Amino acid sequence: MHAHHSSGTPVPSPQVNTGPCAAEFAGARDAAEIDAHVARSHLSKAALLAIACALFVGCGTHRAPIAATAPAATDVASADASVDVTELGATGKTPRVGPGALGGPLAGIDAGLLARFEAGRDDFLELEDIADGIGPVFNEVSCGSCHDQPVGGTTGRTETRFGRVVDGRFDPLAEKGGSLMQDHAIGAVGAGAGAVTFVPETVPAEANVRALRLTTPLFGLGLVDAVPDETFLQLAQLEASRSPSTAGVANLVTEITTGATRVGRFGWKCQVPTLHQFSGDAYLNEMGVTSAQFPNESCPQGNCALLAFDPVPTLNNDGEDVDRFTDFMTLLAPPPRAERAYGVAAQGEEVFRSLGCANCHTPSLVTGESPVPALSHRVFQPFSDFLLHDMGPLGDGIVQGNAGATQMRTAPLWGLGSRHTYLHDGRARTVEQAITAHAGQAAAARERYYRMNPGLRQHLLAFLRSL
Ligand code: HEC
Ligand code: HEC
Repeated sequence: MHAHHSSGTPVPSPQVNTGPCAAEFAGARDAAEIDAHVARSHLSKAALLAIACALFVGCGTHRAPIAATAPAATDVASADASVDVTELGATGKTPRVGPGALGGPLAGIDAGLLARFEAGRDDFLELEDIADGIGPVFNEVSCGSCHDQPVGGTTGRTETRFGRVVDGRFDPLAEKGGSLMQDHAIGAVGAGAGAVTFVPETVPAEANVRALRLTTPLFGLGLVDAVPDETFLQLAQLEASRSPSTAGVANLVTEITTGATRVGRFGWKCQVPTLHQFSGDAYLNEMGVTSAQFPNESCPQGNCALLAFDPVPTLNNDGEDVDRFTDFMTLLAPPPRAERAYGVAAQGEEVFRSLGCANCHTPSLVTGESPVPALSHRVFQPFSDFLLHDMGPLGDGIVQGNAGATQMRTAPLWGLGSRHTYLHDGRARTVEQAITAHAGQAAAARERYYRMNPGLRQHLLAFLRSL
């Protein structure tokens, strides 16, 4: 099994993910759009116009005081085409998810669910060994080795993927152990004729694509799991009709337990549809532990003959651990918003919308029905549409299922303030570096960021750090 974190057979779907979108960048928008924006904004129209104006050179050399003389609407270039959560089925009465602590459980869950959260967390943090099924090749011996600081987050650990492109076609080099490299192995096992030494995988000479992937934090993902597929499909349609140049597409993948075609939403390429499936996928591909959804060990460097020496060749886990990891992640609270989400940071949110960031980084989504009351019909704020966008040269070059080489999932921005490295390979050390690396469908937003007034840029960064 080589498709670590890319479980599921890709389902071809021309309407959904047809690869790179037309690069037709939206220009200045008109006054009607500003009105539409103001209708759902907390600031007055005058204040919004002043902010939008100050974003662009040509509106005057100094920043207009907020709510002072508003320029004519025709001077304003707002690229905001973001989708409001009311367009996805929420109403003014739909409750927001309650605040929780980083690494803690969802607010308001009962004692039974709390016990499941805690049992799941223990299992998630447990260090496993060869007798538990670790290896023969693997990356770490616990989910918590990578998803920690605090538990469920990210240590900043990256892992390596590789492949080979020939005549524009991507080959994951499965026969060489790709596309995911396992950088640890269990070493010497057996004795006499049954002795073998398992060694960590390396990038083979044939590979001409190599990419790092940063561990993503898992906070709040139970909410994302509870969003119906139709909501993401509807969001993709709204984006396509409103702003084709920034619109995202859903990645359709197969849910292993049901065989159903689902909207992928987890992983840097939206390659996995559910937390349950990701648990089995990660258990195999990060730790080398097999379970019902993923019964076949990963062949060391692609050499399946070596599996004859696997010290634990039977199915490693009966599924109980997979269920526990799922419980923990399902009940893990979303990152709390910082107090400074008010004042300057609130103005920064308006800037964020005006630049067109919210076209992809959708501020709010709403869940559907869930057996967990705290997840059922809740509005939450991930700042992502969980759709794929063509990021041009920022893309990682790896093809996974229907997700093309340059397509990446809009990274959720919640919890940004507690992170230290950004983007899929962790190349950005500051939020500003992450913004200026945007390309492809996000190139126009990056250009607006470059052109904006430096004072407002600070508001934007304060807002992003408050998430
Ligand atoms: C060696 C480090 C490592 C270990 C161990 C690890 N993960 Fe991950 N995890 C990652 C990386 C890297 C990603 C991003 C993968 C990608 O998209 O290619 C990720 C992504 C995820 C995601 C998707 C999150 C999102 O934002 O969509 C889930 C869920 C997850 N891991 C769960 C687990 C579970 C459960 C375990 C233990 C069984 C585990 N991981 C073990 C590194 C690790
Ligand atoms: C066309 C869609 C799109 C637009 C517009 C866009 N982004 Fe992004 N953003 C993405 C994608 C996709 C990623 C993940 C890219 C990667 O790592 O390869 C991302 C990543 C980020 C990250 C890094 C997050 C992380 O977890 O590492 C930040 C910060 C960010 N965007 C902020 C912004 C800001 C601010 C704007 C507006 C100036 C913006 N984005 C506009 C799609 C977009």
